[in-house]
Amino acid sequence: MILVTGGAGFIGSNFVMDWLAQSDEPVLNLDKLTYAGNLQNLASLKDNPQHVFVQGDIGDKTLVADLLVQYQPRAIINFAAESHVDRSISGPDDFIQTNIVGTFNLLEVTRGWWQQLDDDKKAGFRFLHVSTDEVYGSLALDAPAFTEEHPYEPNSPYSASKAASDHLVRAYQHTYGLPTLTTNCSNNYGPYHFPEKLIPLMIVNALAGKPLPVYGDGMQIRDWLYVKDHCSAIRRVLEAGRVGETYNVGGWNEKANIDIVKLICQHLDKLQPRSDGQSYAAQITFVKDRPGHDRRYAIDARKIERELGWKPEETFETGIVKTISWYLDNDAWVDNVQTGAYREWLASNYGSR
Ligand code: NAD
Ligand code: TYD
Repeated sequence: MILVTGGAGFIGSNFVMDWLAQSDEPVLNLDKLTYAGNLQNLASLKDNPQHVFVQGDIGDKTLVADLLVQYQPRAIINFAAESHVDRSISGPDDFIQTNIVGTFNLLEVTRGWWQQLDDDKKAGFRFLHVSTDEVYGSLALDAPAFTEEHPYEPNSPYSASKAASDHLVRAYQHTYGLPTLTTNCSNNYGPYHFPEKLIPLMIVNALAGKPLPVYGDGMQIRDWLYVKDHCSAIRRVLEAGRVGETYNVGGWNEKANIDIVKLICQHLDKLQPRSDGQSYAAQITFVKDRPGHDRRYAIDARKIERELGWKPEETFETGIVKTISWYLDNDAWVDNVQTGAYREWLASNYGSR
């Protein structure tokens, strides 16, 4: 079986569902169920014996050691993380604890268990660490996209903590020979995305008649990838990636935030028009910028295409329609994630902007 950490979050739950739809190999899913973890994401697997869910922390060495001995996974795919830049600015502690200390503990326990495996199992084992393009910092408008050789220049507590975890993974391969792989992916979007991130927040706020808060001038650029394409890239890297390598994953799809928001409004105007006949674009509101806001991210995904033959299947135009339709069809999921804690976050992040 494989061990997936953070498999109740946005990307992890998509990964687990896609994996079990395509393979008979069971998944052990270890997730702490923070505010971002949601078992409702995995409701379709409720009666699937191939999916074993354990609530727990990647930093809990005793728990992880027991799970490794009991389940003997052939691979670990580490999605577990604190993942929201704005939360890392208002409260960085959890980011240090999970992304750095947690990943360190996970690596350390994995090393101890892996070292006593027999030679065949040792050679076949993989530790795949899921990381972000944000570790590379911010690009000038005319600069070439991030390659795997780009220096690490993280600018937020989130990206700094992810960079630290990437370095630990690298060191465990270099020093101990642990067979690791790292993927650095651009911004994802799609079903089950928690509505504190740009795309789901705009869809949910638009439908609720609330302001659409665009930070600063809205001209920051992100390189968007449909979540299922990220999942297929991870499966491909796990299957054929060279040990110790990092692979950048991206959609060749750079867009400014304000253009994304306008596009979402245009689609919603067609799919679920406002009752007063106005466009949802009337709800766009420019608000105070994020401190230290990175201007542009862009991924050069040629290495993974050249070496592993991976390319995204969705264009942004097809992916965004699927995503908006999913939110329109899943209002119960949206209502359920908008709990008291979510409302408190909105008040603390947007109240003073
Ligand atoms: P998410 O915040 O939606 O989910 C994170 C999951 O990890 C949650 O289910 C949470 O409960 C769990 N978790 C948090 N701390 C934990 C701990 N200590 N032990 C066990 N589980 C814990 O995040 P996501 O968007 O699904 O991102 C998943 C991974 O992909 C992260 O490592 C993130 O850095 C990376 N990534 C995300 C994006 C993106 O656009 N969302 C892009 C590139 C890389
Ligand atoms: P986000 O989804 O938080 O991802 P990241 O910061 O990891 O790229 O934000 C994407 C972009 O959208 C980023 O430039 C910040 C911007 N943004 C807004 O303009 N308004 C918002 O309310 C949010 C959440 C983000």
